[in-house]
Amino acid sequence: MISIKSAKQIQKMRESCKLTKELFEILEEKAKPGVSTLELDSIAYNFYKKHGATPNFLNYDGYPATICASVNDEVVHGIPSAHKILKDGDIVSIDMGCILDGWHSDAARTFAVGKISAEAQRLIDVTKQSFFEGINKIRHGVKLGDVSAAIQEYVESNGFGVVRDLVGHGIGRSMHEDPSVPNFGRAGHGVKLAAGMALAIEPMVTAGDYHVSVLDDDWTVVTDDGSLAAHYENTVIVTREGCEILTL
Ligand code: MF3
Ligand code: CO
Repeated sequence: MISIKSAKQIQKMRESCKLTKELFEILEEKAKPGVSTLELDSIAYNFYKKHGATPNFLNYDGYPATICASVNDEVVHGIPSAHKILKDGDIVSIDMGCILDGWHSDAARTFAVGKISAEAQRLIDVTKQSFFEGINKIRHGVKLGDVSAAIQEYVESNGFGVVRDLVGHGIGRSMHEDPSVPNFGRAGHGVKLAAGMALAIEPMVTAGDYHVSVLDDDWTVVTDDGSLAAHYENTVIVTREGCEILTL
C-alpha cells in the first residue's frame, strides 16, 4: 500500500528532513583527511539528539550506528569505526536520517576527502546528476518506471554501473514503505505516482561493474570488482506539477 501524505504530514516531514539537510552541511565540513568515520557518527548522533530527533538507522535490524559511512569501493552501509580514518583522495558516502515527531527523513551524499582523482569526481557528479535526471520525470500521474529508466540511462551513458541489489523506497511514518524505487527499469512501467507520495530516491553508482557483495560484518556492501562507488539520496514529495525535495 502506498500512503498519500496530507499537507499537515508533509509539513512534519519537512521538519525532519530539514534536520538531516543541516547535518549534511556540518558533516561536509568535517569529512577531511584525518577524521575517523566514528567521529562523524558521534557528531550526527549528538546533532539529532540536540534537536529532539531519533536517529532512524540506529538499531534498525540491529544496525549499530547513526550514519552509514562507506569509503571508496564500499557502496552503502559502511559501519563507522575509530579505525577507519579518512585520507586524502578518498571518497566517503554518508547516508543518514532521523525520526522527528514520528516522521522519517533519509538522505545520502558522497563527499571528496581532500584532493580526489578526476574520475572519482566524475563518478560523484554523475551520481548526483542521475538523481536529478530521475526526479525531472516526476509528477502526478507518471509511471515510476519513467524515473528509474531516466536514472539508469544517464548513469550508463556516462559509462558507469547502476547497483541492482539495493533500491530506493517510499518513506513516511516508517523509513521503508512502498513502493520500491529501483534505479533501473523501463519507462512506462511500474506504479503510477500521485501527489502526496513520499519517496527516497537514491542512485548507487559504480565506476565499474554493478555487482556488489556484503562483507562478513553482515552490513558493508562493496563492489565485487573493487571499483569506486557513490551514493546520492533525497526524500521527495510528489506534487501535481513535479516534486518537492525535502532534504536539499
Ligand atoms: N537509509 C538506508 C536506505 O536508504 C537504509 C540504511 S540501513 C540501516 O534505505 F540499517 F543502516 F539503517
Ligand atoms: Co533510503
